[in-house]
Amino acid sequence: MGRQAERAKLRERLARVIAYGEMMGPLTVVTGPRGLGKTSLLRDVADQAASDGFVVCWTVGLKRKPFLDELLGQVARATARTDSVSAPASRRHLEELAVQLTLGLDTVEATATPSGPGPAALDRRSVGQVERFLGESARLIRAGGGAGLLVMIDELHAPLEPASDRDSGQDQEAVNDAAVLLNAVQDMAAEKERFPLGVIGAGLPQTKTLLTRVATFAERTREIALPKLDGPTSRALLTEPAGLFGVVWSGGALNWAIRQGDGYPQSLQIIGEATWDAAKPERGGEITLAHAKAAEQAVWNELESMFQARWQAATNSEKQFLKAMASHRKDTVPRAAVAQTLGLATTDLSMARQSLIAKGVIEAPRYGELRFTIPGFDRFVSAQGDAANSEVGRP
Ligand SMILES: Nc1ncnc2c1ncn2[C@@H]1O[C@H](COP(=O)(O)OP(=O)(O)OP(=O)(O)O)[C@@H](O)[C@H]1O
Ligand SMILES: [Mg+2]
Repeated sequence: MGRQAERAKLRERLARVIAYGEMMGPLTVVTGPRGLGKTSLLRDVADQAASDGFVVCWTVGLKRKPFLDELLGQVARATARTDSVSAPASRRHLEELAVQLTLGLDTVEATATPSGPGPAALDRRSVGQVERFLGESARLIRAGGGAGLLVMIDELHAPLEPASDRDSGQDQEAVNDAAVLLNAVQDMAAEKERFPLGVIGAGLPQTKTLLTRVATFAERTREIALPKLDGPTSRALLTEPAGLFGVVWSGGALNWAIRQGDGYPQSLQIIGEATWDAAKPERGGEITLAHAKAAEQAVWNELESMFQARWQAATNSEKQFLKAMASHRKDTVPRAAVAQTLGLATTDLSMARQSLIAKGVIEAPRYGELRFTIPGFDRFVSAQGDAANSEVGRP
């Protein structure tokens, strides 16, 4: 629901693959804080692409783990499954390429120096092999009547995450994988008419920064930063599922729910479901403000369990940072004000700040300003470690 502009952008780029058999361009990444709808958007685009004749492979990046073997394995399996590569000779050719590729990549790992291969020591041979494999797969799919190959990589930031806020080191094998893939995609985009291929990633807001650390040209990555849902989409997200059961939302209930959800799909969904459960409406019934209010505690409980996970993942200095930020009780808080509350210099806080941004807990809407990404998290933070606070457990 909603996301028309972002979906249109992605579909427009894929339309080039369909129409001319040429690559959709450089890597495109969809970015945004947790729960904003990145995976949903990618799934949607993937489904549409599949019905447009693409062979779609889907990989999910894991924290500080290499991902290229898995990705290429997915491509090999997905390609082999399609009718378009049914000729035994084509199939054999691809299998051979896949085997060479696995051997090639293993060599890279085996020769990794203690300081790690890093982007500087990039193995051009692996890049060439990955290019050939992706390119041949895409061309075989096309030759067999398909549109091309679409590779989706969700959680693309995860393999490239630093070890902790105190250690800026990335996992060298994961970095190597990203470097090989980025270089291969970059080379192929330079000769786009040869490759009926698209590569789309999704990840937290820092994804592009992390990619740029791996290869400077990753600055050319096309980023689609997802905004919060707008009012009409938030409204539709609540009313359309109800409408399927002939149930309507009263104006008051709707306004309240939209305000509480604040354009955040995950929260809106929680609010919608909890309110529905409180109302237990029959066909033709109405969800009222009283129902919404009755659901308030249930909503808060659900949000709290989501918040709890984030809170647990924060270090002590990050927790202090969050508490200082929440104590201002404002939508956006100047960075300097947080430092002042803690009696520290802003530079002393840069590590905690960057790490919290990297985890998708806070974001910097403008330079020097910070805000929480999910509505309600500030309230949750204020309630932590202060049992006397009367707001504990209250929505
Ligand atoms: N446009 C949308 N319309 C309706 N519901 C949506 C929309 N986008 C996301 N949602 C719902 O919001 C929730 C979070 O969405 P999703 O998992 O896609 O977010 P995400 O950005 O991938 O989050 P994460 O960073 O945690 O992976 C899901 O339950 C999904 O169904
Ligand atoms: Mg996701």
